Amino acid sequence: MQEKRVSRETSGAAKAANAAASTAEGSSILESLTASSPLAAELADENRRRKKLTTTELTRPGHTRAITVSNQKGGVGKTTSTVNLSAALADQGFNVLVIDIDPQGNASTALGVEHSADTDSVYDVLIEDFALADVVTDCPDIPRLQVVPATIHLAGAEIELVSLVAREQRLARALAEYHRYREENGLQRLDFVFIDCPPSLGLLTVNAFVAAQEVLIPIQCEYYALEGLSQLLNNIGMIQKHLNPPLKVSTILLTMYDGRTNLASQVAGEVREHFPDSVLKSVIPRSVRISEAPSYQQTVITYDRSSTGALAYLEAAAELVQRS
Ligand SMILES: Nc1ncnc2c1ncn2[C@@H]1O[C@H](COP(=O)(O)OP(=O)(O)OP(=O)(O)O)[C@@H](O)[C@H]1O
Ligand SMILES: [Mg+2]
Repeated sequence: MQEKRVSRETSGAAKAANAAASTAEGSSILESLTASSPLAAELADENRRRKKLTTTELTRPGHTRAITVSNQKGGVGKTTSTVNLSAALADQGFNVLVIDIDPQGNASTALGVEHSADTDSVYDVLIEDFALADVVTDCPDIPRLQVVPATIHLAGAEIELVSLVAREQRLARALAEYHRYREENGLQRLDFVFIDCPPSLGLLTVNAFVAAQEVLIPIQCEYYALEGLSQLLNNIGMIQKHLNPPLKVSTILLTMYDGRTNLASQVAGEVREHFPDSVLKSVIPRSVRISEAPSYQQTVITYDRSSTGALAYLEAAAELVQRS
């Protein structure tokens, strides 16, 4: 909402500020503009952030970083963060794999990959012992980004997994085998694997925790944000203890931040106080462009790269790389 309002009201000021920023004498014009208009100040700030991004050097991690994106609370931005961080990292030259392990298949939709019922998918990997290599597909719009899609069959997998051998480790084993497959076939090592979880803590999410070394928790800057978090952290603790000792909550990402409300800044402050070392400095704003992108089977990076939403995810991705 805010973005639409901003672009409608200010195209004149925006052009002036952008033009000012790009000329030699621009800085003084910009200073006088920013002093008189909060909007020009916002644009100047965005310009500065974009410039900083282009001069930030990002180096490949020394090993594949497998990151599970989880929060059992629904609608907090798990899928949105998975697809946009992945797109931002692939855009920056990293090799990225997204594993959609949510029966809703939202990540598969946003990345524009086929996931109708008869598509080979993560279900076949978990239940039918398919190799990941047999179900991985390229994201059509973004080079270096690959996807393991989820189909509706996954809805029954929670129950089907119960009776299978090594039911908690099936994704981890498939992923380890896929890394070997890539090496043997001369494919470049993956830099990042993101696993998009459903809003529950069942066996699908357990498989995702066992297959990763890191957990990224998106937290929506709304009331009730921290509710349920202790249960999530307890579950992660149990996985560390019994199934995957290296697992750690490496990253917390604040999402859907609405700078116009006191509540958003209060929630953000509280989360930073609780988790001082894990919360990214970059905050994802509530943005119309971010919410529109999936209906075009796009990420915000490809849908509208110049939007504040795309900028925020590019910044968050850069921060994620630097924190390795
Ligand atoms: N920064 C944002 N600004 C505006 N809308 C957003 C933003 N992030 C996410 N949304 C919208 O909020 C809704 C929920 O986001 P998303 O699907 O990413 O959450 P989720 O945690 O994956 O949900 P689920 O628990 O159902 O898997 C979607 O409609 C999405 O487009
Ligand atoms: Mg989701």
